Amino acid sequence: MIASTIIGHRGAAALAPENTLAGIRMAAETGVSWVEFDVTLLGDETPVLCHDDKLDRCTNRSGPLSFLTSIDLPGLDAGGWFDPTWTDEPMPHLSDALLLCQELGLGINLEIKPHGIAADLIARKVFEEVSVYWQQPEKLIISCFDFEVLSAYRNFDLYAQLGLLFRHLPELWLLKAQSLQAVSIHCSQQLVSDQDIKTVKDAGYDLYCYTCNDPVHGKHLLELGVDGLFTDNPTLFADLLPSDIRQPA
Ligand code: G3P
Ligand code: MG
Repeated sequence: MIASTIIGHRGAAALAPENTLAGIRMAAETGVSWVEFDVTLLGDETPVLCHDDKLDRCTNRSGPLSFLTSIDLPGLDAGGWFDPTWTDEPMPHLSDALLLCQELGLGINLEIKPHGIAADLIARKVFEEVSVYWQQPEKLIISCFDFEVLSAYRNFDLYAQLGLLFRHLPELWLLKAQSLQAVSIHCSQQLVSDQDIKTVKDAGYDLYCYTCNDPVHGKHLLELGVDGLFTDNPTLFADLLPSDIRQPA
C-alpha cells in the first residue's frame, strides 16, 4: 500500500478550513501520515489549493477563481467562512502546501481539479511545481476524475504515481488503469460494492475510498480489503492512528 489507512480529506475539512495550510497542520496534529487536497489554477495559471471553480463557498469573495491572479491572494480570506478563528487564513499556493507537507512528514494525494482548464496546461503547471518543490515521489499520488488530465500528466512524468478517481467503478476501469500505468483506484465509499473491492484488489491496485466520516462503515470497508479512507475528521478513526499523537481539542 502506498498511502496510509486514514487520509485527511482536504486537509482535515471537519476540523479546519478545507484546502488551507491550517487544515494540513490540523491533519498532522490528528496523527494522519497522508493528506488529500485539491489543486486548480488561477486566471494567471498559478496552481492553488481550492476545490471549487468559484470563490463563493470558501472565501470572503465571490465569482470565478479564474478572475483572480496571484497578486490577489494576500487579500483573500479562505478561513473565516469556516470559523472566525481562521479569519485571514490564505488560499495557499501549491508550492507552499508541498513545502509544508514535506516539513510535517506527510504524504500527499494531490487531486487535480481541471474545471474546464485544458488538460495539458493544468497537468504541466502541477508537474512543474511538483518537480521543484517535492522531493519524495513515493509519498505522492496524483489523482483526477479526468482521464485526459492524468494522461497529460503521464506525458510529463513517466514515473509519477497516478490514481484514477471514479464515483463508482466503471466497466473500463482496468483498461484505463493499465493504459495510464496507474497505481491506485479511488472510489466513493457510498457506491463501492463488495465485488468492486475484490476486483480492484485482485488486479493488484491500491483502493482508496472517499469521503468516509462514519467509522463503522469505514472499518467494514477496510475489512473487505479497501486500503485507505479519506475522512474529513481523522479523530473519528483515532484507534487506527498512532497513539502517541495529540488529538486536537
Ligand atoms: O480525492 C477524493 C475526493 O476528494 C474526491 O472528491 O469532490 O471531495 O474532491 P472531492
Ligand atoms: Mg478532492
